[in-house]
Amino acid sequence: MKQFVGVDIGGTDIKFGIFTETGNILEKWQVPTDIGSQGENLWSQITTEICVHTDNGRSVSGIGVGVPGPVQKDGFVEVCVNLGIRNFNPREILGRVFPDKTIAVGNDANVAALGEMWQGSGQGYENLVVITLGTGVGGGVIMDGKIVYGAKGLSGEIGHMMVNPDETELCTCGGRGCLDQMASATGIVRYTKKLLAQKYAPTVLDEKEALTAKKVFDAARAGDKLAAHSVEHCLSFLGKSLAFVSYVIDPEIFIIGGGVSHAGDYLIKIVQEYYDQYSLLKKEKARIVLATLGNDAGIYGAARMAQKEKKGKNEKV
Ligand code: BGC
Repeated sequence: MKQFVGVDIGGTDIKFGIFTETGNILEKWQVPTDIGSQGENLWSQITTEICVHTDNGRSVSGIGVGVPGPVQKDGFVEVCVNLGIRNFNPREILGRVFPDKTIAVGNDANVAALGEMWQGSGQGYENLVVITLGTGVGGGVIMDGKIVYGAKGLSGEIGHMMVNPDETELCTCGGRGCLDQMASATGIVRYTKKLLAQKYAPTVLDEKEALTAKKVFDAARAGDKLAAHSVEHCLSFLGKSLAFVSYVIDPEIFIIGGGVSHAGDYLIKIVQEYYDQYSLLKKEKARIVLATLGNDAGIYGAARMAQKEKKGKNEKV
């Protein structure tokens, strides 16, 4: 039986999984992302890991990679703002090391959408949007069962919609007030630090300790006023944005994945509340649910993309 590798490049870790054609995961592992030498190190990390775990590629038929930036139809990536790397083509780079393998490349959130539709909460739906909340905010749109790539690979880039006109700091994309700055793990930590500096309310969070989105959610769930305010403020932008997305593509369901989705129902409740508040034209609202595959949606989808790849194309999965 054929096997496929799924790779998901994140801001903190690169995740890998080896899958059967039917979606059974045989092995999964991760390594910390190294973006040194203008991204050169990243590719040697990825090729080395694949070689070590697949007998130099011999045990697999294809490799799929999810990249945190817009991916053009030929696999070229102009920029990954959260990694600070630009102008590379993973299909060419990996093709040089694994010349006889199928290589497929897609945006990380598009790929996560594919994974959720294949083996997760998206099963049985034809029109859905997957949102990934991690170092950045990603979006993957599936319409009539197919990923929507758009003309330049920009489809689903909801992280860079301007949602907060009051923002004074710059986003990694060069804009100001992007959803990425508000609702990503990085954004939640950033806003919480502001509240701590302002001494917004007494809190269990400690300014001197390294703050993470997980710590903020844990404190919020336990009733910490400052943490709860931070989480609600940040997620209100997400709920609102999804209501606007509905006015453009009207999906049946929104699926929230990425590391921040570990916050579970606490997160969903807030996002759904703000979504409902801003989605006024229809009484029956789209449902917002957690990704069943959680943070593994990307590796599942990347492997599925490699399996479905038609040689030389990555737009028709
Ligand atoms: C990037 C997207 C990516 C998302 C999640 C955003 O900053 O622009 O392409 O999907 O982060 O990694």
